[in-house]
Amino acid sequence: MYRTHNCGELNIKDVNKKVILSGWVQNIRKFSKYYFIDLRDFYGITQLFINIKYILFKINNEFIIKVKGIVNERIKKNLLLSTGEIEVKVNYVTLINKSNILPFNIENNPKVSKKIRLKYRYLDIRREEIKNNLIFKSTILNKIRLFFFKKKFIELETPFLVKSTPEGAREFIIPSRNYKGLFYSLPQSPQIFKQLLMIGGIDKYFQIVKCFRDEDLRKDRQPEFLQLDIEMSFINKSKYIINIIEKLIKYLVNKYFNQKIINFKIIKYNKSIKYYKTDKPDLTNKIYKIKIKKNIINKLYNNYNILSFILPNFLNIKNVNFKDIINIILIYIKINKIFIIDNNNKINNFFKNNKIIEYIIKKKFFSEYDILIILLHNNSNINCNKIFNKINKLLFNAIYKKNILIPIWLIDYPLFKYDINNKKYYSFHHPFTSPKKNNKLSYKSLSKAYDLIINGIEIGSGSIRINNKKLQEKIFYLLKFNKKDINNNFDFFLNALDYGTPPHGGIGIGIDRLILLLLNKQDIKDIIPFPKNYYNKDIMLNCPSIINDKILFQLGINI
Ligand code: AMO
Repeated sequence: MYRTHNCGELNIKDVNKKVILSGWVQNIRKFSKYYFIDLRDFYGITQLFINIKYILFKINNEFIIKVKGIVNERIKKNLLLSTGEIEVKVNYVTLINKSNILPFNIENNPKVSKKIRLKYRYLDIRREEIKNNLIFKSTILNKIRLFFFKKKFIELETPFLVKSTPEGAREFIIPSRNYKGLFYSLPQSPQIFKQLLMIGGIDKYFQIVKCFRDEDLRKDRQPEFLQLDIEMSFINKSKYIINIIEKLIKYLVNKYFNQKIINFKIIKYNKSIKYYKTDKPDLTNKIYKIKIKKNIINKLYNNYNILSFILPNFLNIKNVNFKDIINIILIYIKINKIFIIDNNNKINNFFKNNKIIEYIIKKKFFSEYDILIILLHNNSNINCNKIFNKINKLLFNAIYKKNILIPIWLIDYPLFKYDINNKKYYSFHHPFTSPKKNNKLSYKSLSKAYDLIINGIEIGSGSIRINNKKLQEKIFYLLKFNKKDINNNFDFFLNALDYGTPPHGGIGIGIDRLILLLLNKQDIKDIIPFPKNYYNKDIMLNCPSIINDKILFQLGINI
């Protein structure tokens, strides 16, 4: 028997119990007649007190030992550790396995490059941080499954060896041995299959599935990543998918995170580009300047310098002393909804009338939590920009720590985007996305796509799909796919659309990204058991790697 208990479960109630533990030696403190050893396993750490007479072999960090002993109450307690009130007084030690000297210590922030950590990923997984991330991921996957089962979705798998489809990113190609010169590709997403499942009459499907994309990497990208895919039939509006995903995200956040989530906002693509200069706005930390036109301001202030900006979600940020900020503002006006609050009582009738305020509020789509601040002065010694920068810094450091999640649904995307370099139109999302209005299809059409952006990160993307062969063909023609390409790549799909396809829609959520965000971490590699490095390499396996000539020959590949 290797153990009666694990290394994380013994506590003061177990004092005087006889126990057997097995695990890795985390650290050794040697004294002349006895050793203190921290013994670690998956579940935690237990302190061992061992008389040296019981240690009949050389012992080192990361050796695996088995011990027998009695649980004692500790004199010096460590209340940070769940087992910190006890230790095991050992009377038998045996060596289970040795370990080489480690390339880095199993501790928080090991003093070693990421490259070495990736090369010895199995050791990196022994560290609390990575281990806890992976446990957390497993919990979230489990909860996601339960959530969808409860809602009567069924989980189905889709194939990995598929036909190439134009979805955006480059694909990984797999040569076929049986059909030399022909290839499978690995799916970028199960897009076509989930639509085919709807055609197959599967009403509500979900899947937690690996997707593969041969892209240049970033901190939030991996060539293989986990996606939550869902698809539903008999829906023709985004709200059905949006409602379900909002429920899921709120459920996960409320259950597992002490971060706040504020209500989901809906922002149209063109407004996002206009005001935030991006289609992935991060409202947690962006103070953004806006221009207020002089013609809506009372003439009295014509000669004033004016600088106005919006503090997003200010009311959510309770722990800041607004006075600290106000002290460096000369005169300010806060607008909360349509009320002007002029705490300084120095300024009256700044705007010509309240209707105008209402208008600009609507136009700049302030949320009920946003505050518009206007700095104004007629003193040439004062530099509004400097004050703005100071406020920006102060707020950024003091307030907009990322302890809130601000989810946004971006809607009303263009159906197509034009690539100047290739002089070609591409689908903004993918070619199966339904136009907003089917009858007036053009390169200017909007789509029924919706992306979920949380704190500036694209977490998910989905749409109502085309369920009509003619419309689907029109889209292919507008994308300048030629007849041969369409026949080659999409014949089966166009045919399928013609056999009574229900209205349907769905979404793909990047699970690794979602978990990264909820854990408040930056690097996607930290939550994937065996990730690739930034250059798409697995440096533990040293792959991609050379394949021997014999195998290449069998595959019909001559290099
Ligand atoms: P899309 O291509 O936007 O949509 O992908 C959906 C979500 O997957 C995540 N994601 C990634 N995560 C990590 N590494 C990557 N390389 C990576 N690429 C994408 C993002 C993204 O929002 N078929 C459609 C979904 C649909 O329409 O239902 C699709 O795959 O979080």
